[in-house]
Amino acid sequence: MAARRISSLLSRAVYASSSIGPASLLLSRGRGSVRGNGIKKFSTAAATEELIIPPVQISYTKHLINGQFVDAASGKTFPAHDPRSGEVIAHVAEGDAEDINRAVSAARKAFDEGPWPKMSPYERSRILLRFADLVEKHSDELAALETWNNGKPYEQAAKSELPLFVRLFHYYAGWADKIHGLTVPADGDHHVQTLHEPIGVAGQIIPWNFPLIMFAWKVGPALACGNTIVLKTAEQTPLTALYVAKLFHEAGLPPGVLNVVSGYGPTAGAALASHMDVDKLAFTGSTDTGKIVLELAARSNLKPVTLELGGKSPFIVCEDGDIDKAVELAHFALFFNQGQCCCAGSRTFVHERVYDEFLEKSKKRALRRVVGDPFKKGVEQGPQIDEEQFQKVLRYIRSGIDSNATLECGGGRLGNKGYFVEPTVFSDVKDDMLIAQDEIFGPVQSILKFKDIDEVIKRANATRYGLAAGVFTKNINTANTLTRALRAGTVWVNCFDVFDAAIPFGGYKMSGIGREKGIYSLNNYLQVKAVVTPLKNPAWL
Ligand code: NAI
Ligand code: MG
Repeated sequence: MAARRISSLLSRAVYASSSIGPASLLLSRGRGSVRGNGIKKFSTAAATEELIIPPVQISYTKHLINGQFVDAASGKTFPAHDPRSGEVIAHVAEGDAEDINRAVSAARKAFDEGPWPKMSPYERSRILLRFADLVEKHSDELAALETWNNGKPYEQAAKSELPLFVRLFHYYAGWADKIHGLTVPADGDHHVQTLHEPIGVAGQIIPWNFPLIMFAWKVGPALACGNTIVLKTAEQTPLTALYVAKLFHEAGLPPGVLNVVSGYGPTAGAALASHMDVDKLAFTGSTDTGKIVLELAARSNLKPVTLELGGKSPFIVCEDGDIDKAVELAHFALFFNQGQCCCAGSRTFVHERVYDEFLEKSKKRALRRVVGDPFKKGVEQGPQIDEEQFQKVLRYIRSGIDSNATLECGGGRLGNKGYFVEPTVFSDVKDDMLIAQDEIFGPVQSILKFKDIDEVIKRANATRYGLAAGVFTKNINTANTLTRALRAGTVWVNCFDVFDAAIPFGGYKMSGIGREKGIYSLNNYLQVKAVVTPLKNPAWL
């Protein structure tokens, strides 16, 4: 085994190394300019032919509270980084409890007194549509900013994430004037109706892996229902939310309706989760932090909480399908977005009859994966988000090796700057290994062998998570059996990571509470009021 490990460590995935330098050089050569307030700029003129970088500039680094960009109450800032190099690209206002107080006051006032919840739903819908149009107009620049601060391939951000962002706002704009209650045929002489009212001030805490998409999942339904918002971005990726929040105000959103505060979790995030004037909390991130915010909500004002947390999703390859297609889909299910997906297909279960062929081809596919500067055309994988995540992924790789899984390829760092990790494949993975139990959140595929459907159902479900699952089969009976038996919020059959605006998303077990997207997300942001009126005047009136 040792020999196999060493030889596989020598085989390297395709590494578009030549492209990592130039974009960073753009900044250090002085072609980019750094202005006050941490504003940094670079332009296409300075880009090499290989790089596809539209002009992008970091203009918004302060909190957006009550329609104004403001410094942190403390005057403090924190750095935002470029994960390609670790270099600082902006200094961003660092929020804590006082900034959250100010943002919540603005949101409270906008809800209690302001026009948003009282505005005609059609008007609200039109503002959401105008906003979506503005985002579409600025989508190249937004995709570039997302890549610059997050490290995801620019082509992915531009071609799939920005269009999905726009689609989500179109979708929820469509709902704004279709939310209404029921008349209820209750016993007795009463007219009974339900009013579906906005819940109030929504606190929203989002992670760094899909900064714009997470914004859309949470802000879209909350605003469509007439709520006001305080959103805290992840400390790693504060930039694009500020940019789009500015566009929202250009689209006519009244001040105080959407407030964006940057800052760290234990300070700004905890202040939001425990605020007495926040009526609802929505969180996406780790299961550990999910437990903390749920407890903070319970200990303060019992605000309802939706949680979208971690996962360890099985991807089940049955023996009857086209192996090449199965390999490609399983590869995508795990490696997409640098493996930084809550629903990543991180346990690839393969039927024993096709296991050897699948393994060999999966290894070859991982070795062909193009890793490099995410601004380069054709690059499939950029850097991990930061040093902490990079080290975490390397620790899990070490743990896989130590627990005697077979390292088929990858296993180390790529290049000597930034947070690039080699696409890594482990075989001979056993259910009780840490790499088969914990969320690695990196480009590390674990391949496990199974014999029959009953066995794989038990093993796939033997996890504390239940976010998603993938099934690859041509057999309709096998598909039906698996989709019903798997305890997961989403089961993708012969596809993976399909994220249409209308499809609900969320987890069973410790993967979360509640559903986002689609019609299901509206319930998170509505109160139901029963109004009961006698049909005839009662005798005492
Ligand atoms: P995290 O769950 O700690 O952070 C997510 C968000 O919660 C950020 O906005 C953060 O500032 C905030 N937060 C952190 N501590 C908080 C607190 N005490 N009170 C209120 N808000 C708080 O995730 P982190 O530390 O960035 O990553 C750790 C692991 O979590 C990752 O390695 C990955 O396994 C998982 N993760 C899962 C995500 C998902 O999509 N479900 C997204 C990001 C991370
Ligand atoms: Mg954390």
